[in-house]
Amino acid sequence: MFTRVCLGSVVASIVLSLSACSGGGDSSAAVTPPVPPQVALSLAAQVGKQMFFDATLSGSGKMSCATCHDPKSAYGPPNNLAVQLGGPTLTALGNRAVPSLRYKENTPAYADLLDNPDGISVPGPGGGFTWDGRANSLADQAKIPLLDPREMANTSPANVVTKVQASAYAALFKQAFGSNAFADTNAAFNNAVAALQAFQLEDVSFHPYNSKFDLYAGNKIGGTLTAAETRGLKLFSDPATANCASCHYQGAGLNGSSALFTDFSYEAISVPRNPGIPDNNNPAYFDMGICGPIRTDHLPTSAGAPNTFCGMFKAPTLRNVATRTAFFHNGVMHSLEQVIQFYNTRDTMPEIWYPTVGGVAKTVNDPTFPTFGLIKTQYVGGTVQKYNDLPSAYLTNIDTQMPLDGRAAGSAPPMSDQNVADLICFLKTLNDDFVPSKTPPTSGACVN
Ligand code: HEC
Ligand code: HEC
Repeated sequence: MFTRVCLGSVVASIVLSLSACSGGGDSSAAVTPPVPPQVALSLAAQVGKQMFFDATLSGSGKMSCATCHDPKSAYGPPNNLAVQLGGPTLTALGNRAVPSLRYKENTPAYADLLDNPDGISVPGPGGGFTWDGRANSLADQAKIPLLDPREMANTSPANVVTKVQASAYAALFKQAFGSNAFADTNAAFNNAVAALQAFQLEDVSFHPYNSKFDLYAGNKIGGTLTAAETRGLKLFSDPATANCASCHYQGAGLNGSSALFTDFSYEAISVPRNPGIPDNNNPAYFDMGICGPIRTDHLPTSAGAPNTFCGMFKAPTLRNVATRTAFFHNGVMHSLEQVIQFYNTRDTMPEIWYPTVGGVAKTVNDPTFPTFGLIKTQYVGGTVQKYNDLPSAYLTNIDTQMPLDGRAAGSAPPMSDQNVADLICFLKTLNDDFVPSKTPPTSGACVN
């Protein structure tokens, strides 16, 4: 027997502690990575697997789902581009960052008033797929990239069905959906996207639950968090500092496994505008998430008309987030340090996140001017364009909870640089395919 010490005794008030105990067992024993069980794929899921990797299902003939959702990158983008290139000649830039497809299996359909899984927060926008929740199922979602002229760029559902019918897995498709499966184009298209959904739901590679955190939460060998990771976990759930858990935590995943690290909720946190996205060349264009213009069922009745949904994007799962190199719906940030420092200093140092107009650029920045911000040049005078990617009519939609509590510019931020480093260490424990080392390191980053 080993002693079980639940973090709940240490961390006040925290949801995370409910299931999470420190990893136990004999840490000197030889350890192997947990192998998640794979149940046999249904025929539909087998078709979906073929489709997922099939580049002939695109206008270019060169792009599959896996081009943007690379299994080697936790089904996220394989590069650090904010948005990917697609379309018939693979030269069209998209308008949003590619999310990971892992851990989507429990996502409820979108609702304006979804009960928050924490049972404390009032119901609000939640659920659904994509950054704005406009697809209610993985099957509905798959129609979007197949037909988007800037992504896989097929010209119609019939165009997709013709390609499936010509593929090596056409016979498998008939086995799965009936010998007449290609007779009705609409039915065949719906079955094709259902197959993609089945693959994502059934294949264990989309939800392996084999991160260090999972070992920790399951009290398994190799799951002992280091001092730095433990501090990061506490901060993650501490309402007085980082408070990440209030939007990025949800108790149970599949079959009682550990947390999903999203509560499926939507908030407006005012990520800076990304000038690298071609749509943003139009100064009147704003990607406002739930209220459009990409999503079209919550549009303001006229430009600037009251609408509480404008600026809201989905709080994504943070599982595998440390494998990414482009962050937020517009991919404008490129490191976890940058993301967390944005949460920390959006209000206290807006000048390092949003452009300044007027004023005079310094030839040399002060030594105290941070290097992690998006803005690399320090200004004297001028006006910071804070919240520059949301029309002023909607600034009241911006969330005001910690750590984005609207404190005054120039005041102390909620987190220290050490806190930021500890949070990054904790987030790294959410990466899948963790291989515990036989002898855990005693020095180096994320240890002490
Ligand atoms: C050109 C790159 C690209 C290709 C190819 C692509 N996707 Fe995506 N995918 C994206 C982007 C960008 C988003 C976010 C879209 C948005 O928020 O509007 C996304 C979102 C998703 C989501 C929603 C995830 C979430 O967190 O809600 C799913 C599921 C998905 N894609 C599945 C697929 C499937 C299945 C295919 C193949 C049929 C595919 N994608 C092809 C870029 C791509
Ligand atoms: C008020 C709710 C809220 C809080 C608190 C919060 N987040 Fe977020 N988080 C969001 C939303 C919403 C997004 C997506 C915003 C967007 O893209 O416009 C997001 C996005 C992210 C991303 C980008 C993920 C990706 O795939 O691109 C990371 C990383 C992240 N949050 C980490 C954290 C950390 C760490 C904390 C605590 C310091 C935290 N968040 C606190 C709501 C929140």
